[in-house]
Amino acid sequence: MRVLVIGSGGREHAIVRALSRDPAVTGLHAAPGNPGIARLAEVHDVAPADPADVTRLARMLRAGLVVIGPEAPLVAGVADALRADGITAFGPDAAAAMIEGSKAFAKEIMAWAGIPTARSRTATSSDEADEALAAFGPPYVVKDDALAAGKGVLVTEDLGAARRHAAACRRVVIEEYLDGPEVSLFALADGASAVALLPAQDFKRAHDGDKGPNTGGMGAYAPVPWAPPDLAADVLDRVVQPAIDALRRRSVPYRGLLYAGLALTSAGVKVVEFNARFGDPETQVVLDRLDTPLAGLLHAAAAGDLAAAPKLSWLPGAAVTVVLAAEGYPGSPAKGDRISFGDYSERTEAYLLHAGTAVAGDGSLVSAGGRVLNAVGSGPDLAAARAAAYEAADRVRMRGAWYRHDIAERASGGQERTRYG
Ligand code: AMP
Ligand code: GLY
Repeated sequence: MRVLVIGSGGREHAIVRALSRDPAVTGLHAAPGNPGIARLAEVHDVAPADPADVTRLARMLRAGLVVIGPEAPLVAGVADALRADGITAFGPDAAAAMIEGSKAFAKEIMAWAGIPTARSRTATSSDEADEALAAFGPPYVVKDDALAAGKGVLVTEDLGAARRHAAACRRVVIEEYLDGPEVSLFALADGASAVALLPAQDFKRAHDGDKGPNTGGMGAYAPVPWAPPDLAADVLDRVVQPAIDALRRRSVPYRGLLYAGLALTSAGVKVVEFNARFGDPETQVVLDRLDTPLAGLLHAAAAGDLAAAPKLSWLPGAAVTVVLAAEGYPGSPAKGDRISFGDYSERTEAYLLHAGTAVAGDGSLVSAGGRVLNAVGSGPDLAAARAAAYEAADRVRMRGAWYRHDIAERASGGQERTRYG
């Protein structure tokens, strides 16, 4: 099978890495890719969110499967265009990707399908926003209705800040605060049915101890030892399947990855958000643990025939990823800083994925985004995986690079289990 992966981040590097190990993949292409991806796949220029350009490339490569990594191409209708051209695409059509593209639409689907989530109101004026803020009270949760690369959500005790954020958005979803640890659960969906991947936990805040602003994600681990053992089955039953059924009834079959961001509250599991694609950086740890060859799974979902896919099998042990960020992230990250590595490549239990890198004119590797590299470590348990990931992270040399020091720390020490288990 010839596979084309669209995207250029750490998530896409993890997807390409898994595909490169699948013997069913006879040709591996990526666009636009990045310098890490280019070591595993042939990379091509593309405007990733331009449906005609992606279709042109897929046709030229005679791709048997196109995997769309990020949300922007999905919302722009890249999957629709590929399917209209007879190309098998992993990723929902634009109408189904609205489950991520509009928070208000996601809320509407959840209400309609009876999916547990925070109570919410959608506001389009400051009066409506004020009413909603008063109704739910602090901590205030204010979400830009539109896509904002993980930065559209403000959670704050400060009413003034909440009002300012609401005023800066055209349409805003204001909701009840959900108290409890968060877990990400990914499901592969074929339009009618779904299978769950391994639960993972992401660290959204910039700094240690969950301090600082929201980011795209600063690290992740999988599996989640403190989560209830039936979490995946329960979420499939009460969240994922009802969402897929609701979309199918609206004639928008969901083919691709449905990402449920969950809060484990004292009143049970509730949905914080849906995303229409693999999460970043959770994918880096989930795919590290996946033993089943990836291409057949993604192809089965894309072709509407998950029943034909092999049963999922997982490697024992755990994986941890630590995001190395550039100076200034998540505000305005510095770019063009030179990156060099120690001898990490000699280790087998840890590796680096490229997230925001580029090759400069003189051939050296430089930073080119806010999240620059992901160090991934694995081992028999979270503590070992964590040690391996941090050892790989420590070998990176780059001016201004920084990372969180507490990724998977509590979970590997068992404290999460006592608190929530
Ligand atoms: P979202 O983009 O909707 O996932 O929001 C980003 C982050 O904001 C989430 O991962 C949570 O940490 C936080 N958040 C979002 N909604 C809520 C909520 N209702 N209650 C508490 N925290 C929330
Ligand atoms: N890790 C959060 C996201 O991918 O949205």
